[in-house]
Amino acid sequence: MPKLMLALDVLDRDEALKIVEDVKDYVDAIKVGYPLVLSAGLKIVEEIKKLCNKEVICDFKVADIPATNEKIAKITLKYADGIIVHGFVGEDSVKAVQDVAKELNKKVIMVTEMSHPGAVQFMQPIADKLAEMAKKLKVDAIVAPSTRPERLKEIKEIAKLPVITPGVGAQGGKVEDIINILDENDYVIVGRAIYLSENPKEAAKKYKEMLNKG
Ligand code: C5P
Repeated sequence: MPKLMLALDVLDRDEALKIVEDVKDYVDAIKVGYPLVLSAGLKIVEEIKKLCNKEVICDFKVADIPATNEKIAKITLKYADGIIVHGFVGEDSVKAVQDVAKELNKKVIMVTEMSHPGAVQFMQPIADKLAEMAKKLKVDAIVAPSTRPERLKEIKEIAKLPVITPGVGAQGGKVEDIINILDENDYVIVGRAIYLSENPKEAAKKYKEMLNKG
């Protein structure tokens, strides 16, 4: 059964912490990105971890030259358990982050194909190559889309690595369409369908149960 990762893209510290408190029994990991970190500061990662004792991943989609990637990774991985990087910038840029992560015993997760419609324009044509690169570099996991289950399956087969997959809920992806592709090392990412729900706790519980049934 795949695990549940909450994408916590709210803009307010107190709201973020309240949602974490509400859903902590049902989520296995929490993903924060620019929306929350630019609003509340990187130390929000520490606060979230203290509150729920779950893995926190920073979705910064790091995409710079190796020297800059290294600096970003050093700051981020002081707090977070893992960091999401782009692969299209090339092996050297990803390796720079892996070197930092290895020293700190943290995770590097690499994007292959994104989940939004625009990803078919430039990312999809190179996504299989990115999946091959992820396999070669032995990153800890890759990001692949729930919104296109057939692509999720193809990319997972190429990379043979754990997958974290966004797109379920607000972007139209459905648990039943992806559940058979995933295993216990994978994570399904759900954001708005939980944190914008009238009752985030119930919504998280519902997704957790759907994943358990699969
Ligand atoms: O709210 P929703 O469930 O659509 O959130 C999905 C999360 O996954 C967002 O944080 C988004 O930035 C992220 N993401 C994505 N597609 C990718 C990589 C990350 O939707 N390929």
